[in-house]
Amino acid sequence: MCGIVGYNGNLDAKEILLKGLEKLEYRGYDSAGIAIRNKEGVTVFKEKGRIKDLRNVVDGEIKGNIGIGHTRWATHGVPNKINAHPHQSATKRFTIVHNGVIENYHLLKKQYLNNIPMQSETDTEVIVQLVEQFSKEGLSTIEAFRKTLSLLHGSYAIALLDEEDGDTIYVAKNKSPLLVGVGDGCNVVASDAMAMLQVTNQFIEIHDGEVVLVQKEKIEISTLDGQKIERKPYTVELDASDIEKGTYPHYMLKEMDEQPGVVRKIIQEYSNEAGELSIDEAIFAALRGADRIYIIAAGTSYHAGLVGKEYFEKLAGIPVEVHISSEIGYNMPLLSEKPLFIFISQSGETADSRQVLVKVKELGHPALTITNVAGSTLSREADYTLLLHAGPEIAVASTKAYVAQLAVLAIVAYVAGEGSDVDLKKELAIVANAIQTMVDSKDEMQKIALEYLNNVRNAFFIGRNMDYYVSLEGALKLKEISYIQAEGFAGGELKHGTIALIEEETPVFALVTQEAVALNIRGNVKEVVARGANACVISMEGLNEEDDRFVIPKVHTLLTPLVSVVPLQLISYYAALERGCDVDKPRNLAKSVTVE
Ligand code: M6R
Repeated sequence: MCGIVGYNGNLDAKEILLKGLEKLEYRGYDSAGIAIRNKEGVTVFKEKGRIKDLRNVVDGEIKGNIGIGHTRWATHGVPNKINAHPHQSATKRFTIVHNGVIENYHLLKKQYLNNIPMQSETDTEVIVQLVEQFSKEGLSTIEAFRKTLSLLHGSYAIALLDEEDGDTIYVAKNKSPLLVGVGDGCNVVASDAMAMLQVTNQFIEIHDGEVVLVQKEKIEISTLDGQKIERKPYTVELDASDIEKGTYPHYMLKEMDEQPGVVRKIIQEYSNEAGELSIDEAIFAALRGADRIYIIAAGTSYHAGLVGKEYFEKLAGIPVEVHISSEIGYNMPLLSEKPLFIFISQSGETADSRQVLVKVKELGHPALTITNVAGSTLSREADYTLLLHAGPEIAVASTKAYVAQLAVLAIVAYVAGEGSDVDLKKELAIVANAIQTMVDSKDEMQKIALEYLNNVRNAFFIGRNMDYYVSLEGALKLKEISYIQAEGFAGGELKHGTIALIEEETPVFALVTQEAVALNIRGNVKEVVARGANACVISMEGLNEEDDRFVIPKVHTLLTPLVSVVPLQLISYYAALERGCDVDKPRNLAKSVTVE
């Protein structure tokens, strides 16, 4: 997690780096820094906190045309100014920014750097000290850099400056995302194209194990053992306005508002010329050829996977297992004869999921990635990709990507099922309208947040069947942005233990959208109310009762999660606002979780 940027060109680097880091803050925001090189040498500015805090310590007068920058999500060493990047070698000749984790840094320190006093607690510092060590032994900078890289175990995206070389940013990558951008009179480096859209929309992918020399006029890519690689840039089709908040106070609010449009866009993107829902033929064949689907994902994407299982089993008749990526990677279940792995990931960069994909490829099984980010690691490394078309999701709390994941999963399952009698296209259009009704009900959601979540310690979300999966997502949303301890439960499970936690006024949000289990969940509501809970029932039209707190518009039973999640997202948002939390950048979190 952490974001890195680099600029080498005709313009003043400082503002470009700071603006770039602002766009990468979603990747980590506990400290930040930049290094600027000019005739006087390399100057480093760093600070604990956000980019706005960094701006306060950057010398407004400093000029320089080459620089690197970093925004950190701490792994090794507490978030403070000393552990913030950039880090420098003992003589300060070399300066580095790094995203990733060096697993063998202790060993390397012991073996090569015994006499070098370390300034920070980070694994990163070892890299820059090694480069200096090897260059002192007579290697050129590129040789010292390559030798250092060959010793590293773990993940990295690195940008390195050499004070004695005013022309080059030395760049390398393994497992962590990194792009090089080709500008007019400049070349740039970034963890995510968004950071450098201010300069260019032409980017070159860097693959694991490659080393890149980024100079003002040229970019030279080679393998770790020095073989040259030619790779053409591609155009990133993002509009700079897509990544702005506009008049919204928070990205999360903007992204929730975009959800009806996202569903409509997905219908359009997955319709063929005849106007029928369709997917790539090779993906269709892979689905039809599978005797079992294994869905692999983390967090919100895992919750989408649980709903996806219902879609594949009900619409396509294909059995499905859903696994948390950080668990299955180290404990592969017995696989079926013809498995198909589906990776669901908004970012396409989640390290836990990626390590599973690597194993799946080693085993020789086919893999499909469903992601929001074209060209992301999981997309590149899988056999097939389906895009979410949700537009950039910046808020750490995933909202529109979840809805998009459900819509795409429904379409894929429907197409794979061929003979389904659901008119999915029509049903999804109804869903888009229902979501619109939900996002137009913000005032009511704000009232509910105040009514049920003011000054509470904890909250519960219950549901059965599809509603249970949405309860898990509702609880995740609330806890990650408001820090209220929240748990999602299958309604029937409460009485097996958790009901012991229900006290006078404990908020319990209950979803009632599944006809088959509506009476059962209403029974569970009665059980918690009898023990003092403050129950907020959110039901669907047709299943509603008089005292329900909110009624969502009627949609197809299978598609209710796309709609019922929206009030939970909004309630979480307003609860977090009420508590004065930083909605878009909750504490301890980052948008892309690129460490295992
Ligand atoms: O990018 P991914 O979908 O792979 O990310 C997985 C989780 O880290 C992510 O969904 C996380 O749980 C969100 N912050 C939830 O809002």
